[in-house]
Amino acid sequence: MADAAVRLRPTTPADQAFLYAMLHEANNWDLPVDAPRPPLAVTLDDEVVSRYVDGWGRPGDCAVVAEAGGTPVGACWLRLFTADHHGWGFVAADVPELGIAVAPAWRRRGIGTRLLADAVAQARHAGHLAISLDVMLENPARVLYERAGFREVATDEEAAACTMVLDLTGQPGAHQPFGT
Ligand SMILES: CC(C)(COP(=O)(O)OP(=O)(O)OC[C@H]1O[C@@H](n2cnc3c(N)ncnc32)[C@H](O)[C@@H]1OP(=O)(O)O)[C@@H](O)C(=O)NCCC(=O)NCCS
Repeated sequence: MADAAVRLRPTTPADQAFLYAMLHEANNWDLPVDAPRPPLAVTLDDEVVSRYVDGWGRPGDCAVVAEAGGTPVGACWLRLFTADHHGWGFVAADVPELGIAVAPAWRRRGIGTRLLADAVAQARHAGHLAISLDVMLENPARVLYERAGFREVATDEEAAACTMVLDLTGQPGAHQPFGT
């Protein structure tokens, strides 16, 4: 059930540090919620990973942050890339790649579902025809994506990861961006 105390808001460039923290969580998706995290630098030193957030606020960036009592507790963000400089889930220059994470203590309360629904609504609003992402095959986040309508389009068995795409060309969604 959704957590009524959590509200969604748009991001600003000032959220870059929080987005890096959430990127770090996504990069460490397989750690138990109460396990210590490696230093953030491990994530930021990997340029293919850090590029999902570097210079946040460039044209085309869009995101939603979940806040509880004014403290950010999760985010879902979308970024456009180019054919020669992109993330792991790239499919086309006009299809944004999605990232998502919720702070460990706030997981399994429906916040990820709300963040994803709002990011999808923003993408529709911006006129995008699809959203793509990369996810490890064993990451339970796949269930979240499948429920939202994402479908696997490519699998890299060696990397144990897959690319998923949400087709936005069907019926317009009922969801409004930043709806609570
Ligand atoms: C993926 C993530 C954003 C989901 O956020 P959340 O707020 O926990 O999501 P919800 O509470 O809306 O859960 C949605 C569904 O996802 C699935 N799910 C999410 N995390 C799960 C977990 N650890 N184990 C099993 N199922 C999980 C469940 O099916 C869940 O539905 P349910 O609670 O009704 O069973 C969060 O677990 C997270 O931050 N994970 C680490 C970062 C990450 O993996 N990002 C994605 C990288 S591709």
